[in-house]
Amino acid sequence: MKILNQLTTQFLHCFAPETAHHLAIKMLRHLPAQNVLSDIDSNIFSQELLGMKFTHPLGLAAGFDKNADVFDKLGQLGFSFVEVGSVTPRPQPGNPKPRLFRLPEQQAIINRYGFNSEGLDYMAQHLQQYPRTCITGINLGKNKETTNYADDFLRNAEVLCTLGDYFVVNVSSPNTPGLRDLQTPEALAPIIDGIQDIIRRKKPGLPLFVKISPDMTVPQETALLEFLITKAVNGIIISNTTLSREGVEGSKNAAEAGGLSGPPLKERTTAMLRRAYKITQGKLVLIGCGGISSGLDAYEKLRAGADLLQIYTSFVYHGPLVIRKILVELAELLKRDGVKNVREIIGHL
Ligand SMILES: Cc1cc2nc3c(=O)[nH]c(=O)nc-3n(C[C@H](O)[C@H](O)[C@H](O)COP(=O)(O)O)c2cc1C
Repeated sequence: MKILNQLTTQFLHCFAPETAHHLAIKMLRHLPAQNVLSDIDSNIFSQELLGMKFTHPLGLAAGFDKNADVFDKLGQLGFSFVEVGSVTPRPQPGNPKPRLFRLPEQQAIINRYGFNSEGLDYMAQHLQQYPRTCITGINLGKNKETTNYADDFLRNAEVLCTLGDYFVVNVSSPNTPGLRDLQTPEALAPIIDGIQDIIRRKKPGLPLFVKISPDMTVPQETALLEFLITKAVNGIIISNTTLSREGVEGSKNAAEAGGLSGPPLKERTTAMLRRAYKITQGKLVLIGCGGISSGLDAYEKLRAGADLLQIYTSFVYHGPLVIRKILVELAELLKRDGVKNVREIIGHL
């Protein structure tokens, strides 16, 4: 299994990054997916949040399965939750290629995909066609050309409401002009109110998350978090990719435009989680995302206040076995500290 994982990952890295991404999706669709977690201690990891039962805290972040092509296979590999999208109402090609870059020295990625999406109807069809093998979230985006931004989020929500286990409003991708400007109370209010209305009508209780950027000033971030508490959203994903190039200076692709992900994002997002936990005090579910590739990274994020974790870049560099590696290492750290269930350490610095 380990050798197969290594060979497949090395094979994919022989191709240009975006070709490798498409190939990985094709392989997942057509090959049997083997669960890498058969012997993991589930008691230490299981938790129920917002009516959803998580077998462990590790999920796949948005942007890998943009069109819900393989979410069932990703669940079979061992993720406890998978987030599909970001989806846009109408199909759109995204930015011109090349738009995905590896920074191998830092095991990081810069992407400026710009919401390449097959659109809402395609995603809806796939969500109906394939079985849900783990908790499946739907990450909502907007078309580049739409000026009445709230309309796009609401159109997505209306059609997809009954087809997933939670929604995410993504107002934090750096590659869609103006999207991050929606991270203010005034701009977000109509989106959140509208989606909450749709949820009340179509699937009461469906959890709603907002995914935020790591590039706000602390006062902007605080204002946003306080607003999200008043709006009674269920959780926050911390965070999307960064425009900062801290930690990758001098690297070959560092000057490419786009969002940076992977280890250089880790400390920034952990610090952000700590601040968010202080403000939200357990009232909202926090999903920690950014540079997690080991059990220690996961442990730090949980102690900073994350209830759940997501990965993307470490999955690209290390393949499916990284899920197992992170959880085995995390379980060792928990046992070392005499912890019986992961919830005991959340927010305990
Ligand atoms: C190639 C690529 C595409 C992404 N696309 C999306 C997206 O469509 N929507 C979104 O909310 N986040 C997207 N992200 C951000 C990830 O979901 C995640 O927030 C970020 O990469 C940080 O996690 P990581 O350091 O584990 O990769 C993308 C990231 C990458 C690397």
